Amino acid sequence: MQKIYLDQASTSFPKAPPAARAVYDYLSRSGVNVNRGGYAAAYSIEEQIYETREQLCRLFHFPKIQNVIFTSSVTMSLNMLLKGLLHPGDHVLVSSMEHNAVMRPLTQLKETGVLFSRIPCAEDGSLLLEEAEGLVRSNTKALVCLHASNVCGTLLPAKELGGFCKKHGIFFILDAAQTAGVFPIDMEEMQIDGLAFTGHKGLRGPQGTGGFLVSDTLAQKLTPLISGGTGSISHTEDIPAFLPDRFEAGTPNLPGILGLHAALSYLEEHSMEEMRLHELSLTQYFLEGIKEMDPEESRIRIIGKKEVTDRAAVVSIQTARIDMAEAAYALDSQYGIMTRVGLHCAPAAHKTLGTYPAGTIRFSFGPENTREELDIALEALRAVALAQK
Ligand code: ALA
Repeated sequence: MQKIYLDQASTSFPKAPPAARAVYDYLSRSGVNVNRGGYAAAYSIEEQIYETREQLCRLFHFPKIQNVIFTSSVTMSLNMLLKGLLHPGDHVLVSSMEHNAVMRPLTQLKETGVLFSRIPCAEDGSLLLEEAEGLVRSNTKALVCLHASNVCGTLLPAKELGGFCKKHGIFFILDAAQTAGVFPIDMEEMQIDGLAFTGHKGLRGPQGTGGFLVSDTLAQKLTPLISGGTGSISHTEDIPAFLPDRFEAGTPNLPGILGLHAALSYLEEHSMEEMRLHELSLTQYFLEGIKEMDPEESRIRIIGKKEVTDRAAVVSIQTARIDMAEAAYALDSQYGIMTRVGLHCAPAAHKTLGTYPAGTIRFSFGPENTREELDIALEALRAVALAQK
């Protein structure tokens, strides 16, 4: 049976073609540490890591190469930004569509007296920006939100939110888990102070990679969450004051970062716009395919936006005739269609979308998916949805 991978919002597959080779080459041919050894091989790794920071600066229109911090994931980045910044009595704004990568650190911080308010979103996931104004308090320190919903793909208006934050003198932290490498992100134009990204989704690098890009003003307010050896200023037990070392203790995920370096080079050689338009055209095709099914018969409901404007290549649906976990299982076991079902680590988003606690079946598309694959997926969905009356 042919397998069709439609869980790209979870992690991309296939990865950028040169990524695996870069990981393999490093592990099999060199394998040396960075910032530690006084020999040519170590200097060469340093150079490649530096180039990776440069690539991320180019991609996100950010001027300070040393302010690119590598972490193990976007979740780690958000934890470092939120827990490093917020103190008892501080208040932050979030959207009502957030993933638990933002909500769980904030729930943890709530125990220490950090408060948060949710800016409401409409039932299709669009942010009601006009509601944000009344939520700002004198102790509000930051607005942190995702760029695109991992549940239904709806985009939040990053540029407008950047302007809003500047107007109120608060930091703007953007979670680009679903958009980095797919949508243009201009940190200067969007006035982003902290951008958290993952390397294994739209950037198509290995899992275990990610990081954040941080303005000097925000970096100065951040307490490092992790400390340890950095290979720099080894005469002292104090944490380095300079970046990136201040936030990068311990040997980093070098195979992963080198894989990411190769994936970023691949992205630079291809048109991000072309890939995005392809993904969005697949999204439209899939939405149309579902709309063509008789709703009375299939009892499938599209969740979130019904069109492709202001959205990423993610489609969530609910089935009424068949339990959704059973439907997802049948899609995989009988038709080879891989999806993600449930609450997608985002209970808040599902509450906003009116799909909590049942959740949804989520289909998400990448640059190498095809219409032929979607035809098979739509046919399978139709068959599965109609199998039980
Ligand atoms: N947050 C990722 C997803 O939505 C893992 O599947």
